[in-house]
Amino acid sequence: MKIIMLGAPGAGKGTRAAVAAAHYNMPHISTGDIFRANLKEGTELGLRAKEYMDAGELVPDELTVEILLSRVTQKDCEGGYILDGFPRTIRQAEVLEAELKKLDDKIDFAIDIDVPDDVIEVRMTGRRVCTKCGATYHIVHAPTAKDGICDACGGEVVQRKDDAPETVRQRLRVYHEQTQPLIAFYKERGILKWIDGCGPLDDALADVIRVLE
Ligand code: AP5
Repeated sequence: MKIIMLGAPGAGKGTRAAVAAAHYNMPHISTGDIFRANLKEGTELGLRAKEYMDAGELVPDELTVEILLSRVTQKDCEGGYILDGFPRTIRQAEVLEAELKKLDDKIDFAIDIDVPDDVIEVRMTGRRVCTKCGATYHIVHAPTAKDGICDACGGEVVQRKDDAPETVRQRLRVYHEQTQPLIAFYKERGILKWIDGCGPLDDALADVIRVLE
């Protein structure tokens, strides 16, 4: 099964993709995480992506598409995968569709996680992430047991630079202009599913299972 998680920044794509990937035993592929991992390693890709990410803009397609395609053609993706944060433009979706078609393959479901912008703004400013394993927390809805320390690995938990309020507003503008049209794109293909992203976090996995099965 090949699944795409759609939704605004902070809608809960990563949270739901992580629990669903563990449940279905499939790789969880986040282009944002790939860029952040590259930045941590100081690669040229990471440094180039940082400029765009810090400004709340999309990383150009020529950097994004190739890295995603090389990831989904690895052996562990043969049985399926969950994409989180890709595609983000109609062009990215078209390239993915064309490349999969060459392999006689296709995306099975695109799940749109719907959350109003005002809820997103509150969420993002409260989000904290582990610098070591990438686990996501929220200071109110999903706090760590010990302040600033990851429950999963003991790493340091910090706020992402692009979660600053003005950058979040810019990311939302970019989402509405460039990414939201993907909802119609996948609806036309008859594979769009919908989740109310304002439900409790405890239901994150159940919500995904309900729309897929
Ligand atoms: P990326 O890392 O993909 O960021 P994003 O899409 O903006 O998504 P987020 O990770 O911010 O949020 P999310 O929807 O995963 O929500 P989460 O589960 O963490 O991309 C970063 C940047 O990289 C982009 O801005 C762009 O520059 C670049 N990039 C990446 N992919 C690209 C591409 N394909 N093309 C071009 N550029 C690309 O949840 C958020 C918070 O809310 C958490 O604290 C969570 O605990 C909490 N929460 C979630 N659900 C709930 C709930 N139901 N109730 C209460 N709290 C909740």
